[in-house]
Amino acid sequence: MQDEHLTTILAGLADRGWCVLPDFLPPETVAALRAECLARHAAGAFHRAGIGSGRASVVEEVRSDSILWVEADDPHPAVRRYVGATEMLKQAVNRDFFLGLDELEAHFALYPQGALYRKHLDRFRDDDRRTLTAIVYLNEDWSEADGGLLRFWPDPSGEGETIDIVPAGGTLVTFLSGLYWHEVLPARRNRLALTGWYKRR
Ligand code: OGA
Ligand code: MN
Repeated sequence: MQDEHLTTILAGLADRGWCVLPDFLPPETVAALRAECLARHAAGAFHRAGIGSGRASVVEEVRSDSILWVEADDPHPAVRRYVGATEMLKQAVNRDFFLGLDELEAHFALYPQGALYRKHLDRFRDDDRRTLTAIVYLNEDWSEADGGLLRFWPDPSGEGETIDIVPAGGTLVTFLSGLYWHEVLPARRNRLALTGWYKRR
């Protein structure tokens, strides 16, 4: 990872508690991760995502993506590069702030056409160890017309102005998991991401 990238992320977290950074991962790595995500999806390895608890019908209305958890020791070369980048980010954050980030839990997510994730916080009632969210998009040539924007509320009240983030391949979105409300608007074509949460010790 480039030093300027780390500097940008750390400054964003220090000033506001969140950061959007294009080209966090290089295009070759993003392309390889996209191919691997699609291959694992085609192999039937994904399952419908849950929301911590709740009836299936409720889950359906709240969130309609499918996911596959990534093991920390996954041997795929592009996954190794992703894990390496997230490890560098963790060390830098732990050096500069007092968040005590420990393990990263991460999954591939695929939102098929029409899928969404309604407004939520990433910290569940039954798991308050999620501290920093880090999402990396794996999409090729995404435009606003493809939908699937990440709607983000910069004010922790979850009210007021919003920012819509285009899930362009390689873009990183990171924010304090317990503070910021966000929502995935319906996608008009398959929308891919690697979504991770650093848990605190
Ligand atoms: C999530 C989430 C946002 C995105 O998985 O919790 O909010 O842009 N994802 O994929
Ligand atoms: Mn979320």
